[in-house]
Amino acid sequence: MALLEIRKLSRRFGGLAAVSDLDLDIGQGEIFGLIGPNGAGKSTVLNMIGGTLTPTSGRIIFNGEDITKLPPFRRTRRGIARVFQRDVVFRSLTVLENVLAGSNLSSKSGLADIFIKTPSMRNREKEMYEKAMEMLRFVNLVQQADEMAVNLPHGNQRALCLAIALATKARLFLLDEPLTGMNNEEIEAMMCMIKTLRDEKGVTNIIVEHNIKAVKGLCDRIAVLDYGKKIAEGLPQEVVANKNVIEAYLGVEESAV
Ligand SMILES: Nc1ncnc2c1ncn2[C@@H]1O[C@H](COP(=O)(O)OP(=O)(O)OP(=O)(O)O)[C@@H](O)[C@H]1O
Ligand SMILES: [Mg+2]
Repeated sequence: MALLEIRKLSRRFGGLAAVSDLDLDIGQGEIFGLIGPNGAGKSTVLNMIGGTLTPTSGRIIFNGEDITKLPPFRRTRRGIARVFQRDVVFRSLTVLENVLAGSNLSSKSGLADIFIKTPSMRNREKEMYEKAMEMLRFVNLVQQADEMAVNLPHGNQRALCLAIALATKARLFLLDEPLTGMNNEEIEAMMCMIKTLRDEKGVTNIIVEHNIKAVKGLCDRIAVLDYGKKIAEGLPQEVVANKNVIEAYLGVEESAV
């Protein structure tokens, strides 16, 4: 059984069919790319999976459960994270405190508890601290743990978003253009982190991205949307060589990247 099953998913905006009859199966631990021209419906798909947008018709099944009608916070609890939804992290907290706040979303105690040092909280606090530092290790931010999040460079802020999502115990990351505005070094680092999170934490990723070279290097499989319809799906090499995909989106030059 796939971790995420999308069946005949459609979304209309007035007369516009933004997404039409989309079927997708995404396996546990897969890094799945969703590509296509501007306005093809990619973000609309992610919004429907995250729950901020209601489908006009169709179903979304996560881990065997129909979540089509669940509100976003219930999907978060089940392990779906829209990673850069609020691109900015908590600006007035340190890097470590950001991750602790994320861990707290998945714990039963109140946010205040993690900052109040009562004896009964000490063990729990220590455990949470160690876990948060582990998350920071995954995204290479241990050295910056005590810096204010707002002062981190753009690439590091995005890495921190991954750590926060991980701290909420998310199993499915929805990434909408995670590489936008990054330099080559930051892109390399982000790709490496996404792979590490998959390999070591079993995180499943759906990535919408226009950087085709990165998508080819990162994704196990790719689906291509054009005017809301899936026009191709398969291994990266197959998809970028597909005649319809080249015509609709890539053009001859990009397909050769
Ligand atoms: N809230 C909305 N109200 C009306 N139309 C919308 C809304 N959201 C998206 N659309 C339209 O739906 C279509 C799909 O938009 P979407 O944002 O999903 O495209 P996209 O593939 O993510 O594009 P891009 O690569 O530019 O981000 C577009 O024509 C867009 O204008
Ligand atoms: Mg978009």
